Amino acid sequence: MMDLIIPDKTHDEERQGEALMLDAVAGKNNGRKLYIESYGCAMNFSDSEIVASILQESGFETTKDYNNADVVFINTCSIRENAEQRVRNRLKEFTVAKVKNPGMIVGVLGCMAERLKSKFLEEEKLVDVVVGPDAYRDLPNLIDTADGGQKAVNVLLSREETYADINPVRLNTNGINAFVSIMRGCDNMCSFCVVPFTRGRERSRDPQSIVKECTDLFNQGYREVTLLGQNVDSYKWTPLPTLPPNGGEGSEQGTNQSLPLGEVGGVSFANLLEMVALISPELRVRFSTSHPKDILDDVLYTIAKYDNICNCIHLPVQSGNSRVLEMMNRTYDRAWYMERVDAIRRIIPDCAISTDIIAGFCSETEEEHQDTLSMMDYVQYDFAYMFTYSERPGTLAAKRYADDIPETIKSRRLKEVIAKQQHYSHIRLQKQIGKVQKVLIEGFSKKSDKDYCGRSDKNAMVVFPVDDRFKPGQYVNILVDRCTTATLIGNIVAP
Ligand code: 5AD
Ligand code: SF4
Repeated sequence: MMDLIIPDKTHDEERQGEALMLDAVAGKNNGRKLYIESYGCAMNFSDSEIVASILQESGFETTKDYNNADVVFINTCSIRENAEQRVRNRLKEFTVAKVKNPGMIVGVLGCMAERLKSKFLEEEKLVDVVVGPDAYRDLPNLIDTADGGQKAVNVLLSREETYADINPVRLNTNGINAFVSIMRGCDNMCSFCVVPFTRGRERSRDPQSIVKECTDLFNQGYREVTLLGQNVDSYKWTPLPTLPPNGGEGSEQGTNQSLPLGEVGGVSFANLLEMVALISPELRVRFSTSHPKDILDDVLYTIAKYDNICNCIHLPVQSGNSRVLEMMNRTYDRAWYMERVDAIRRIIPDCAISTDIIAGFCSETEEEHQDTLSMMDYVQYDFAYMFTYSERPGTLAAKRYADDIPETIKSRRLKEVIAKQQHYSHIRLQKQIGKVQKVLIEGFSKKSDKDYCGRSDKNAMVVFPVDDRFKPGQYVNILVDRCTTATLIGNIVAP
């Protein structure tokens, strides 16, 4: 099983296993230390911020060294087998620390916890606490139970939990970009995917709490928010019934009369995008992930209307062949996907499109694989996450279809997909040469503190010489004069 991930911020290879640090809350610190590290997608990293916030409230300090920790948490991903293997290997490393410090509590959080439930306790003896993604409010109690010498498990999934009221602490932040979770779970049941089982039913978060969180971030100096959900286009918030003028005997007090309600009779994703974009033209808005079956023109027109909504859409195709898409239960076909791409190109002519591709899904023929490659020629994606199919226990595909493409063939098809993507990623960057890009400065470039780096509206990394008139968090116009395979290089020019 082989993955290639072209880094972007929604699943950043460099952040896998990253540990987080917080300031202690004065007066509440009970002196115990928490170590937490995260794997998987941006949603998991965002969840770790919620966990940290809950434990900070109950008096924990954080440490970057698990050898010094009283509680060690690992927030896990189940999406492919190698993601789980990585966590198992990491747990082995914690065993040594636990032998030295037998009072240390080891907890497994997130998707793997939800998938394996109490089986985890049998399989990995050092684990004391197993907690699914909807049970983080229960963590202080579960730690108490483990302190008392018992193992503790809470993997209850919820239809309501959105952690809307929890103000996530920002972890390892540059103070410029932040993730904001707008919904949880997924109802799509793609046949290969374990997420509907590990993250439960789809539910949207109250838009006012989202706008407040984004406004607070802006006031703290953040200049870019990425709105996160497994399928942001199906975001929908339905208002509570409103109170009639006489008080309406027996009716519930509505809490959200001030919302600009859309035609859907509630707040749609297009409405939400607009609400966040209106916080300030200086706040950039990104979002991920869009589903080809749900991305409608209203969202595209909203993106086109606001300069601060980035022209950048992550639209996973998975396969370019209609029969395979049907087996994947993606509920669109090749023609539908192409029509959505045409609509993007028509309504937002200068829009970056990225994607996810799975090579070697059950029964995929050579011709069907060619359809994926020809789809890549059609769309010319700016970047892509590319994977070989990994059968996940309990999914519809695992129950219905044989995982019958040999690993060697899967890997060869993946290589072809990667080669094509590298070709188009490079072409896409080359097309920016000679053009001016508005870039949000994120900090110094990794290679030299004489250069700044930041991202263009279309999410390309741009490197340019430091100019003392500008600081991270400010926008500059960059005239691009060349590019490497993954980065644009240029100079600041007048607006
Ligand atoms: N095997 C390979 N890739 C998968 N993905 C999800 N489940 C699997 C699987 N079983 C990929 C899809 C999805 C992305 C988040 O991970 O491309 O869009
Ligand atoms: Fe998984 Fe499909 Fe939901 Fe994405 S949309 S999380 S691939 S089930």
